[in-house]
Amino acid sequence: MFKKSIIAILATSSLLFSANVGDLAGIKTLKIDRNMTETSASCVECHAKLTPGHVNDWKESRHGHVGVSCLDCHGVTADSPMKTKNCSSESGPKVNVSIMVSPKTCGRCHPNEVEEFQNSGHARGAIQVKSKKGMQDLMYHYEGRDHPKFKDSPSATGCVQCHGAIIEMENGKPTAATWPNYGIGNVYPDGSVGNCKSCHSGHKFSIEEARKPAACASCHLGPDHPDIEIYNNSMHGHVYNTEGNSWKWDSAPDAWEPGDYRAPTCATCHMSGIGNLKTTHNVSRRLKWNIWAPISKHRDGGHETAATDYMKSGKISKGNPLAGHPKGSEAARAEMEHVCKSCHVSTHTKNFFKMADMHVDLYNTYANDAKKMIGELAKKGLMKKDKWADAAFRLWYHLWHHEGRRMRQGALMGAPDYAHWHGVFEVQQDIRKLESVYKNRMESGKIEN
Ligand code: HEC
Ligand code: HEC
Ligand code: HEC
Ligand code: HEC
Ligand code: HEC
Ligand code: HEC
Ligand code: HEC
Ligand code: HEC
Repeated sequence: MFKKSIIAILATSSLLFSANVGDLAGIKTLKIDRNMTETSASCVECHAKLTPGHVNDWKESRHGHVGVSCLDCHGVTADSPMKTKNCSSESGPKVNVSIMVSPKTCGRCHPNEVEEFQNSGHARGAIQVKSKKGMQDLMYHYEGRDHPKFKDSPSATGCVQCHGAIIEMENGKPTAATWPNYGIGNVYPDGSVGNCKSCHSGHKFSIEEARKPAACASCHLGPDHPDIEIYNNSMHGHVYNTEGNSWKWDSAPDAWEPGDYRAPTCATCHMSGIGNLKTTHNVSRRLKWNIWAPISKHRDGGHETAATDYMKSGKISKGNPLAGHPKGSEAARAEMEHVCKSCHVSTHTKNFFKMADMHVDLYNTYANDAKKMIGELAKKGLMKKDKWADAAFRLWYHLWHHEGRRMRQGALMGAPDYAHWHGVFEVQQDIRKLESVYKNRMESGKIEN
């Protein structure tokens, strides 16, 4: 911050005192039009009585300050697939509005944030779930019991709220099974993908909120990705939890720097600008490993493509699990290390990642052994058809999906209880149980009851 202000002062003084003003190519002109038309003022007026919460939140937002109105986000054309209602005052013209606002609308004014988001793993949230038969079976068949009336509730109340949905319309309104939700990867009826209000809740759309760990915690918790628990267990969470309420949260975008805060939050490490590292809405960009998959590999796959493919051709795909930094996993790690080195020295950072990476490599040895056993059992016909009733499958699933993720995420984010007791200790127990099921089945040639 300090360095940046000196540069700013030097730049201004050279403008004032030198005849040769130098390169002015970077000078911007932003035309701000705060005037609201009669129609956009009428939205605020009527809705101040009807939905005062929305109007109050909007009044406190940057959008309220710069005159971005209800109409600018909710107004749609008469033939838009998003249209849900006509809204107007008695005297005013009829206006077509949508109850939803997609990233396509935000992208009119925030194109960079939308593009970065669409290159991230967040953008495949809903699409990848739809593309996997195993996941569809779990939601509708096993959990929803194929019930003629009730089968949609597990996905609507669970998966969709975090992952998002492919939103469907019925009689001019979004269906209850797909909306409302705050899921990260919504696919909207206008074909655009993503959800900007997952972290910036409406109608404040504040950056202050998104910088706090609570903005991620509504989804990143629980047995299979306990990131908020991991954060609380880390020394960084310790510092944030003792004094975070007095830090400075509202610095301008890309100008939020150590000093405003003393320890990093989720946003600092995964998204925010720090020193000369730029802010990004691509949360996959600074990741070296994929640590949610059964076996962890380096992310050398470039950008995520699920959203862009969908928007081009309507293709429902698994996405790209190895998406990350466009220049590969080492470039990703270098950016993450840049974050650490804004507060720690290089030996601290190097040593930390040496041991954390080792824990991922150790995990992979367990996962490879377990996968081999499952493969051999399957080859011999010694796995049940209903995998959720099969003891070997369930042990394998818990080993990688729950315990194994905790082991890897705990190590890489500095949380000893998750790296160890909820992590490697449990993984070590799981594989022992799996070994004994495996041995019994191979010796008896039968699946136990
Ligand atoms: C005279 C009052 C009035 C005015 C003016 C008005 N609205 Fe509404 N609006 C309503 C009512 C009533 C509802 C329905 C509330 C309900 O269903 O609970 C509504 C609903 C909405 C919804 C939800 C849409 C849906 O499908 O339910 C949006 C979005 C909306 N208004 C935006 C706007 C915008 C943008 C404007 C300005 C162009 C506007 N409104 C002007 C009264 C008004
Ligand atoms: C910056 C864009 C933006 C502006 C400005 C905006 N909204 Fe919204 N609004 C949204 C988003 C995003 C949602 C969530 C839509 C979704 O879940 O798909 C939403 C949802 C809504 C809903 C439906 C959800 C609910 O809780 O009832 C209503 C009604 C609504 N807005 C009214 C308004 C009114 C009135 C104003 C003006 C005071 C306004 N909005 C200004 C983006 C905006
Ligand atoms: C008509 C243009 C326009 C639209 C549409 C729009 N915004 Fe904005 N937004 C602005 C302007 C102008 C600012 C103020 C400049 C800034 O802070 O970047 C702003 C600021 C923001 C900020 C920074 C707030 C802060 O606390 O500093 C966020 C976050 C944001 N917008 C999110 C959204 C989201 C999400 C949507 C879609 C639901 C959206 N915007 C739609 C113009 C728009
Ligand atoms: C509304 C729920 C939600 C919120 C809020 C949320 N995430 Fe996520 N996040 C997800 C889901 C779902 C996935 C998995 C997407 C997939 O691969 O299908 C994910 C994946 C990720 C990944 C891995 C991406 C990859 O390429 O594998 C990172 C890193 C991440 N989130 C960080 C964050 C951070 C940091 C925040 C807060 C600033 C945050 N998330 C807020 C739901 C959320
Ligand atoms: C509490 C929020 C939440 C719920 C509920 C949830 N997930 Fe997730 N899911 C996440 C997050 C966060 C991740 C990313 C974990 C990571 O990166 O380590 C994720 C990751 C995944 C992945 C791996 C990512 C990928 O791209 O393949 C799949 C598959 C998945 N979830 C499917 C589901 C299904 C199906 C359901 C419902 C049966 C569900 N999830 C329920 C938050 C949730
Ligand atoms: C995973 C959480 C998350 C999601 C989802 C998200 N944002 Fe943000 N956004 C942030 C964070 C964190 C910051 C603040 C970065 C910093 O520290 O300066 C931010 C900052 C912004 C800003 C201020 C300018 C900037 O780029 O720093 C705008 C505008 C914005 N977001 C728009 C959007 C739009 C549009 C979307 C939907 C495509 C979106 N955001 C989705 C977390 C999120
Ligand atoms: C001190 C920096 C730091 C903080 C704070 C932090 N993370 Fe991380 N996070 C990391 C690192 C480092 C990795 C592993 C990156 C790699 O692959 O090399 C990681 C990995 C992840 C992953 C796993 C991605 C995958 O491949 O499955 C998710 C999800 C995630 N973080 C979310 C969060 C959330 C949510 C928070 C806040 C509750 C948070 N992180 C706080 C540094 C941080
Ligand atoms: C905004 C400054 C800041 C950033 C950025 C930051 N840390 Fe920290 N970190 C701290 C503070 C403050 C402590 C507690 C210091 C102490 O007790 O000496 C801490 C403590 C730690 C600890 C506990 C061991 C110890 O020395 O206390 C580890 C490990 C750690 N950080 C790793 C990282 C890694 C890895 C990154 C980058 C992914 C990172 N930190 C980024 C400020 C930061």
